[in-house]
Amino acid sequence: MSAIFLKRFLQRPFQVASIIPSSRTLIRRVTGKMDFSQPRVIAEYGPGEGCHTREIVRRMHPDSSLILFELDPEFAQHLEEQFRGDSRVTVLNSDAALLCQELTKRGLNHCDYIVSGIPFSILEPEKKRELLRSTYDSLAPHDHSAFIIYQVTNELVGHCGHFPRRESEYCLQNLPPMFVTKFYKTANGHAHGLNGHSRNGNGNH
Ligand SMILES: C[S@@+](CC[C@H](N)C(=O)[O-])C[C@H]1O[C@@H](n2cnc3c(N)ncnc32)[C@H](O)[C@@H]1O
Repeated sequence: MSAIFLKRFLQRPFQVASIIPSSRTLIRRVTGKMDFSQPRVIAEYGPGEGCHTREIVRRMHPDSSLILFELDPEFAQHLEEQFRGDSRVTVLNSDAALLCQELTKRGLNHCDYIVSGIPFSILEPEKKRELLRSTYDSLAPHDHSAFIIYQVTNELVGHCGHFPRRESEYCLQNLPPMFVTKFYKTANGHAHGLNGHSRNGNGNH
């Protein structure tokens, strides 16, 4: 799986932004923040070759839906081949910014979870603002609903003041180490399987 990753990194270094996929530990930390006991609508931004996707698909309820947004056409093709037999999974070779339109097209009002692996830190400020706003708007107004990201720096926290509550932890067992942050849609958002450091508030710490 790493060969395709390195190849796409060499072709699109700023978009792919990593030479190897996430580690097993990081994948467990990210998926551990979701409650899969009920049917869920889940979106994933930047699945790459699908390392988090496979774990989400393995764990999610049979009546769940997972929509993948992957900008890179080769990764999108690779994902299409992997999940062709699973009607719960939709692969889109599209920008994550199209989430709202794609939900509407499918008659879905909201997502329960949005998981992101895209390199937010290198997005233009305006693009970043718009994406974070549409991400917030696309989440259902439930206490479990959340936006979950893994990033080398925790700089996104400073741009997510509109999320009323968040929790972060640092995952050392990944190359490079990553912050995993869960931004809740509601102020009462409740933790699910949180292993590390937790903070409440308006996101401006
Ligand atoms: C660092 S890789 C993460 C891949 C994988 N999730 C992992 O953990 O190994 C970032 C991925 O985000 C994709 N990407 C970057 N910007 C995107 C955007 N605006 N919309 C959808 N995908 C995007 C890239 O093509 C790449 O596959």
